[in-house]
Amino acid sequence: MTKTGTSKDVLTYYHNNWDKIANCYNLDKDNIPIDPAWYRRRLYNNFLDKYKPKALLDIGCGGGWTVLDALKKRINAIGVEPVTPLQKFASNLLNEEGFEGERILLDDLLYIESLKSNSQECIALLSVIPHVPADKLDHVHFELSRVLKPGGKLVVAYRNELFDFFTFNSITLNLYKNTIWNNKELSSISNNSQVLEALKNLVTNPNIPGEFHTNSGDKSFGKLKRFKTNPLTIKNFLAKYNFNWLESNFYHFHCVPPLISDKVKDLKKINHKMELNHSNNWRAQFMCPMYLVICQKN
Ligand SMILES: C[S@@+](CC[C@H](N)C(=O)[O-])C[C@H]1O[C@@H](n2cnc3c(N)ncnc32)[C@H](O)[C@@H]1O
Repeated sequence: MTKTGTSKDVLTYYHNNWDKIANCYNLDKDNIPIDPAWYRRRLYNNFLDKYKPKALLDIGCGGGWTVLDALKKRINAIGVEPVTPLQKFASNLLNEEGFEGERILLDDLLYIESLKSNSQECIALLSVIPHVPADKLDHVHFELSRVLKPGGKLVVAYRNELFDFFTFNSITLNLYKNTIWNNKELSSISNNSQVLEALKNLVTNPNIPGEFHTNSGDKSFGKLKRFKTNPLTIKNFLAKYNFNWLESNFYHFHCVPPLISDKVKDLKKINHKMELNHSNNWRAQFMCPMYLVICQKN
């Protein structure tokens, strides 16, 4: 079996910060989630309630909370987690809650290579795909499709490329150069250094974030080359792997661009309300860097 190739930086980050991931679903003193993962988990639970799978494989299950959610709904859930302290935490969590700790396997995403074709009813990948190197994404998606039964569901969190319009920084520049102008008729524009320089002058913060991930403030999290998908074309992307797109639900709201978040007094409360009421609103396609996609194998 091959490994997915998640960078050593990322795996070391999760190893050293396992308790942050295990406790990421806590609330603050105002009862607002301390981490946007809470909203992802909420959307995932909505998915379980709506589509009612009987069995589920939760890959990169972290502290195991989402496996526990499924088990409590009488879904035959198994978790896979490659980082030892997280796998142990998840296994203990299940034991404490009266389920078998052995349901959490210590393994990599490409554990699915060992599964039979058409054998799985449902697979969850909750913030795992952003760690998959670009050259493995095709293989990973083909494998997910191979092991799912026809009609089987994939629930997967992707980074949202359109959010890059909202940030006014180096990522916005990359969006123009590598995505918007990534088209035969527009190639002379993306190669025109005068245009690129002028665009840079339009953007208030063309040099940040640098090559490291913005949120962590901890360079050990690794470099910022992360795979994103475009919610406007996600249907076609998934169709390549024989998936039929069903729904996209957005989370991790930014009611204003992150660079000016200090200008809004009730920022956290406003974002919280947006999360609870507007995960399907058209604005969410621009205001959220993450979205949860539900699709079905044909
Ligand atoms: C942001 S955390 C999310 C944890 C969990 N899915 C949740 O929603 O609470 C990302 C998880 O992906 C796992 N991960 C990263 N690369 C992986 C890989 N190649 N195979 C399986 N899991 C991976 C990490 O160890 C970590 O637990």
